Amino acid sequence: MENNPILLQVSDMSKSFPGVQALNNVSLNVKKGTVHALVGENGAGKSTLMKCIFGIYHPDKGTLKLEGTTVSFSEPKQALDNGITMVHQELNQVSRLRVMDNIWLGRFPMKNGIVIDEKKVLNDTKTIFSNLEIDINPLTKVEKLSVSERQMIEIAKAASYNAKIIVMDEPTSSLSEKEVAHLFRVINKLKEKGCGIIYISHKLEEIFSIADEVSVMRDGNMISTEKIEDINIDNVITLMVGRKLDNRFPKKTNKTDGILLEVKNLSLVYSQLVKNISFTLKKGEILGIAGLEGSMRTEIIEGLFGYRTKESGEIIVNNSLCKNNSPSNSIKNKFALLTEERKYNGIFPGMTVKDNIMISNINEYCKFGVINDEKVNKDVFKIIKSLNVKTPSEKAMIRNLSGGNQQKVIFGRWMLTSPDILLLDEPTRGIDVGAKYEIYQLIIELAKEGKGIIMISSEMPELLGVSNRILVMSNGKIAGIVNTEETNQEEILRLAAKYL
Ligand SMILES: Nc1ncnc2c1ncn2[C@@H]1O[C@H](COP(=O)(O)OP(=O)(O)OP(=O)(O)O)[C@@H](O)[C@H]1O
Ligand SMILES: [Mg+2]
Repeated sequence: MENNPILLQVSDMSKSFPGVQALNNVSLNVKKGTVHALVGENGAGKSTLMKCIFGIYHPDKGTLKLEGTTVSFSEPKQALDNGITMVHQELNQVSRLRVMDNIWLGRFPMKNGIVIDEKKVLNDTKTIFSNLEIDINPLTKVEKLSVSERQMIEIAKAASYNAKIIVMDEPTSSLSEKEVAHLFRVINKLKEKGCGIIYISHKLEEIFSIADEVSVMRDGNMISTEKIEDINIDNVITLMVGRKLDNRFPKKTNKTDGILLEVKNLSLVYSQLVKNISFTLKKGEILGIAGLEGSMRTEIIEGLFGYRTKESGEIIVNNSLCKNNSPSNSIKNKFALLTEERKYNGIFPGMTVKDNIMISNINEYCKFGVINDEKVNKDVFKIIKSLNVKTPSEKAMIRNLSGGNQQKVIFGRWMLTSPDILLLDEPTRGIDVGAKYEIYQLIIELAKEGKGIIMISSEMPELLGVSNRILVMSNGKIAGIVNTEETNQEEILRLAAKYL
């Protein structure tokens, strides 16, 4: 790797937004045929740097050299034409179009110069998919696909440009372990072809299995670049947060009490796999839900929250029956749901941070049609401060916040509805190590107040580190409910595979 030539050279790049210096004289060299990891806390400037390279943002200063030649792109199309592609952190797909149309959008091969050559589109898509071992029907509409399948399509699209540089911004945030292994095979193939891959991730373990070099950013500055064999995970964390972080999980100081929620024989109409799900949740308890992708974890909590139609089943809270037949009814019954995919059902991108925080709690602030702005501001500032949301002001558009900070805002939104039962679907996805700790602390605090928390997570250490009991799903059925203190990773994985 030492002798690999430099493919992409970023020098002294700066970029500011109103109120934020997002990049401050940042330099980065990416070598041919290597994976270069880029890490840093939420808001450190990773995505901004990539967007500057890709022509989405125009840097205030700095130069970009591709294979020794100075280049600058005023729009992504020019970057693509020069062999730089990017898989974005937030998926940007046209859901009502088919898979293959999404891949070739804007550059369809034409027949006789007038009609789209559908056959070629289909065949070319199939070729790319088979090269990358992707098993998705190119004719399916994107809206029918899972988040992870959508992510795979983005990667296939990037590969389809014969790219020299592929930027992957948190590519595995919604992939299962098996899919991550698949992605890594794909990355190694691209590497063999001589691609340089810039790999952004908050999953630090994973960086050590795929990257050749790692660069660490903090507050818009490039702190250091190291060869992967010269560094370990603790060093990386220290460089990221600027101090030593001793524990990755706070102490579980919550105590459980009597039964808060009882779910009896829950079955869903459109998710036929989910049949007769029964379990209980105690006051003050954090119940983790484990399972593989497709094991119907999300479906269950969406069913509880009234996002999905129930075929049958009872939801009993404090001995009284709750209908929860719509999200608004569930909110009335003091449930809250933090969804898995911010962009599709979480944030309102065109609204401010403040509005995004207050929206689910609007009835609390509204008396006789007038909004009590003072009360709103007080709550909004409380959330921004307690969750350490990095934003220039509460009036900033949420879409301008870094991915992890958007997640914190949504978390804050639900805190304000003061729910009794919190349903959390991958609550720390895309969140950096320091902020994760803060979220865990918050979850434990809520449990200490006597609330019940159900938390889906694909990160096993997180489930074991935070929850009191773990319910393991396998193919739509409950494979077991275990006490966290008496179980381990192997047992959970074995249960997760029970009904496959
Ligand atoms: N279009 C924009 N307008 C205003 N501020 C922006 C814009 N894009 C980014 N920022 C700000 O620049 C800073 C860096 O954000 P960036 O998205 O690059 O962080 P990141 O390192 O990718 O974080 P994460 O890990 O959360 O994705 C943040 O403070 C963010 O709010
Ligand atoms: Mg980012």
